[in-house]
Amino acid sequence: MNSPVRERTGHHRSGSASGQGEGRAHAKAILLGEHSVVHGTPAIAFPVPTLSVRALARPGSAGAVSEAPADGHFRFTAGATVATDPTPSGPRVAVEEALRRWGISDDPVEVLVECAIPLARGLGSSAACAGAAVRAVADLHGRTLDPATLYDLVQCGEQVAHGRASGIDARAVLSDGPIRFQRGTAAPMTIGVDAVLVIADTGAPGSTQQAVAGVRRTLERDRAAAQRLLTRASGLIEAAAADLSAGRARSLGRAMVDFQELLAELGVSTAHIDSLVTAALGAGAYGAKLTGAGLGGCVLALAEAPLVPDVRAALRHAGAAQTWTLPTRALRSGATSSPASTPELGTNP
Ligand code: MEV
Repeated sequence: MNSPVRERTGHHRSGSASGQGEGRAHAKAILLGEHSVVHGTPAIAFPVPTLSVRALARPGSAGAVSEAPADGHFRFTAGATVATDPTPSGPRVAVEEALRRWGISDDPVEVLVECAIPLARGLGSSAACAGAAVRAVADLHGRTLDPATLYDLVQCGEQVAHGRASGIDARAVLSDGPIRFQRGTAAPMTIGVDAVLVIADTGAPGSTQQAVAGVRRTLERDRAAAQRLLTRASGLIEAAAADLSAGRARSLGRAMVDFQELLAELGVSTAHIDSLVTAALGAGAYGAKLTGAGLGGCVLALAEAPLVPDVRAALRHAGAAQTWTLPTRALRSGATSSPASTPELGTNP
């Protein structure tokens, strides 16, 4: 696709001086707590910084421009246009809300989004695209975005993309390090485990909105059973947080397997997810489970470093479309913000 927003030189100058703005965000993966977090339990998530999104913004002209994501590249015009679009995307809703809050809704802005995060795979692509887009528009207009406002704006987009978004995606795609999230609030986490996270893509897109709605129906069917399940979920998440900081990889892996059982009870696993989990465990992973909303998307495994090639091969053999690896030591103490310790994220050949 031809880019409607071009950098004038190789060197990006931010703000109105360059006539365009730029913003970035990255993927996330949930270690434990997806779905239960919507119903009040904690959850643990970490950034995947090398799967990133870049957005460029420049003044637009009136009239809606909207393109559906194709290979992660799309563009839209926001400002003075939303009434013409009955189904605006999450990033567009977030940008419209930003313009409204800044009192410049009548100034159209054109945004190009280049997203390297696989879409609809539970890796936070919608929140990351919204975050990068809002940052780009803020940069264009020379606005300073405090973290609370940025989170709030991304959440406006997420409510459109997910239905009832807990906020964990919005927090994790904007965070430099691992977080413990509960009811909108994120706290940094200590990581003592030295192992490798392997993310495997089923190749099948999953609908977060559909998965979240299905889980809600399941929980509403039997409130006492729902309460027991959420209590069990909270126990596993708290134990996993303690294992993570104390360096207990084997015990953390068991918590992942137990959480996967719970997610299967909630109806969000699939035969393909189950076979990827079985393959990772068969190759010696400490634990494996789906990550994100499920019904497709990705599987997350935890393995000791020497076993990673076997785990990746087993996942590929079981039908994974692609895999990425992320050493947990790269996540320690918010180390992901430092270029010197950027995680070595490897992809399948
Ligand atoms: C999606 O990444 C995580 C879910 O728990 C939904 C949410 O928390 O908004 C499935």
